[in-house]
Amino acid sequence: MSTPVVAAPGNAGFTVITGASSGIGAALARQLASAGHRLALVGRNAERLDAVAGACRVLGAECHIGRLDLRDRDSLAAFLADLEQSGPIDLFISNAGILDGRRNGEAVEGAAAAHRVLDTNLLAAIDAVHMVLPGMRARRRGRLLFIASLAAFAPLPDAPAYSAAKAGLLSYGLALRDALRGQGIGVCVACPGYVSTGMSDLHLGQRPGEISADDAAARILKALGRDRALSGFPFGLYWVSRLSLLAPAFVRRLGMRGLRFHVGN
Ligand SMILES: NC(=O)c1ccc[n+]([C@@H]2O[C@H](COP(=O)([O-])OP(=O)(O)OC[C@H]3O[C@@H](n4cnc5c(N)ncnc54)[C@H](OP(=O)(O)O)[C@@H]3O)[C@@H](O)[C@H]2O)c1
Repeated sequence: MSTPVVAAPGNAGFTVITGASSGIGAALARQLASAGHRLALVGRNAERLDAVAGACRVLGAECHIGRLDLRDRDSLAAFLADLEQSGPIDLFISNAGILDGRRNGEAVEGAAAAHRVLDTNLLAAIDAVHMVLPGMRARRRGRLLFIASLAAFAPLPDAPAYSAAKAGLLSYGLALRDALRGQGIGVCVACPGYVSTGMSDLHLGQRPGEISADDAAARILKALGRDRALSGFPFGLYWVSRLSLLAPAFVRRLGMRGLRFHVGN
């Protein structure tokens, strides 16, 4: 494992990671713990959160747990306000997300699933920004990191709401970066391709170029350390995804043919 490149802030405020109980979020937590960050881990599953927090403490990190559902904005706001008081919050990583989409035999995902995906993956992330941003702006210090997806560039016919949420997150993050320019607050958007996690287990189809959660976390933290606006990987799939937006629709559809999937239970 390469050494994480994001050093803990000098004045050691908190790094909050949503969706830290598994996958990419857990890998980010472990790597940031090694780099000396004070962590606050958010998720719903108490057992998995405890396990990740335990591993981070062994690595020497102070580690707080926010066991909550991001769709419950009051609980999220209360947790972040408490943390800000004892913190403050210096780095907020909006990573939590769910994958939903077309089930086997269905043409399109259901309305309830689409709503759940947009609320969890996009609206909760935006609401959280408004909970942490006032403190960061007052201090003229802070960083926001959004975990989007290559689906932000290459809309997935089998998961329209997921694609829309990730495109929204990408657009939101890049817009926010420019809006906050010169105010001491950095914003970075990461767009991973396929990563081996519990989420990818739900994706029943080809997953070319799949990498481990540890690898994804290392690439994301490298981009954050370099203050990159956008980090997409793996390289080949990133550029194919970006360029597909410029291609005629039939070319895009042809390219998508080998990547069709349905969502498992
Ligand atoms: N895996 C991939 O191929 C891939 C590719 C591109 C982008 N991404 C993105 O990477 C991020 C992390 O996904 P992952 O692959 O690491 O999947 P994962 O292992 O399933 O992790 C998802 C995390 O989000 C949390 N979460 C989901 N809904 C939540 C809610 N309502 N409230 C609080 N926490 C919630 C889960 O925690 P609890 O279950 O404990 O609540 C879990 O910690 C997601 O935004 C995903 O869209 C993944």
